[in-house]
Amino acid sequence: MQAFLADVPSMLPLREYHCILNAVMRTQGHIIDAIKGKAILAPMLATTDIPFRIICRTFGAALTLTEMVSAAGILRESPTSFRNAVFSPDEHPIGIQLVAADADTVAAAARELRPFKPDLFDINCGCPNDRICEVGAGAQLLDDLPRMTRLLSAASEATTIPVSAKIRMRGHSRLSNVRDIARAAEDGGVAMITVHARVRHARYDVAAQWDSIAEAVNSVDIPVVGNGDIFSSADAQRMMRETGCWAVMVARGALGTPWIFRDIADGYSCDIQEHAPDTEEMTRLVCTHMQSMIDEFGSIRAIPRMRKHAMWYSRNFAGMPALRHQLFSQQDPHIMIEEVCRFFRGAPPHLAQDDPLREEIELRFRKRVLFWVHEIMLTEG
Ligand SMILES: Cc1cc2nc3c(=O)[nH]c(=O)nc-3n(C[C@H](O)[C@H](O)[C@H](O)COP(=O)(O)O)c2cc1C
Repeated sequence: MQAFLADVPSMLPLREYHCILNAVMRTQGHIIDAIKGKAILAPMLATTDIPFRIICRTFGAALTLTEMVSAAGILRESPTSFRNAVFSPDEHPIGIQLVAADADTVAAAARELRPFKPDLFDINCGCPNDRICEVGAGAQLLDDLPRMTRLLSAASEATTIPVSAKIRMRGHSRLSNVRDIARAAEDGGVAMITVHARVRHARYDVAAQWDSIAEAVNSVDIPVVGNGDIFSSADAQRMMRETGCWAVMVARGALGTPWIFRDIADGYSCDIQEHAPDTEEMTRLVCTHMQSMIDEFGSIRAIPRMRKHAMWYSRNFAGMPALRHQLFSQQDPHIMIEEVCRFFRGAPPHLAQDDPLREEIELRFRKRVLFWVHEIMLTEG
């Protein structure tokens, strides 16, 4: 790569320089090519930790991402920020997602994290959280596209590790602004863009608008990943067909149902329950996950994370309310594992597809999933 770049005239316009750089990276078998047509685990605060990422990887996620890591926190040497950026050696390919408000900070943080050797840096340009936006990061970047381009450019130039941008849309003239935002990201030299197909202020009760993914695909020359409302391999196939996106990114659709990655990797176009694990596999999956959370976070910190995942795994099963009660009255994580294992080993029946309770639980899960994150943030500080 260095030898090739030595031949590139140094005064090329930035955009052309980035196009060449991206093309070179691709010919070297770089991560972006490897994920074409596949599924990525989305970054999720307090959720895409090492244990959950490894599970999704084992089920076939082509790439996983850390939760958002504060670039300023990295420069301040915040233990939380470093902990969130750490991954285990067998997790490749993996991306670290950075959230930052200015170019110098993101570049310095990328350089600081370069020794970790992630396969990708993803830059968060879509988080609508007030605390993130107040400092000018996340979705706030969408209101000042030249600033977003400068920030992405600084990240792209800081290291030789490829950089992607995860964007949403502003509220007005959605399709024309996704075009502007995607082009502004491309101008920043990123190798790939992920479009979360919602406007900045939309909550999960508003359906993702996949036509904005198609619009981004048609507006830029770099790969565009589609994200929003994929809950089964059928959804994933439909998104790829309808939008022409390079790959899909799954967030809530992997919570409690990480085998969605196996369904997508196997090329199925089916409902999430059609190839669900049998009793033995499900019991092993949930119990291994619970134990790995204790190993990773220690007994005390693991508890809220264990509760959250156990609730998600069990949400489509009859008997879930009783399990929920046990989980909330239990403070010993090892007994929690025993209870959860007993529950799944007992082969609880699924709630019927047309059971109104199932629909209600699923809707509540999809809309209120962030509630659990707040609970963990409060517990962990
Ligand atoms: C619990 C949770 C935490 C999230 N944290 C992040 C984050 O750290 N960075 C980010 O870019 N998006 C984050 N998101 C947004 C998701 O990555 C994704 O864009 C969004 O949920 C839409 O995908 P879905 O419809 O598959 O859930 C989070 C979403 C959830 C549900």
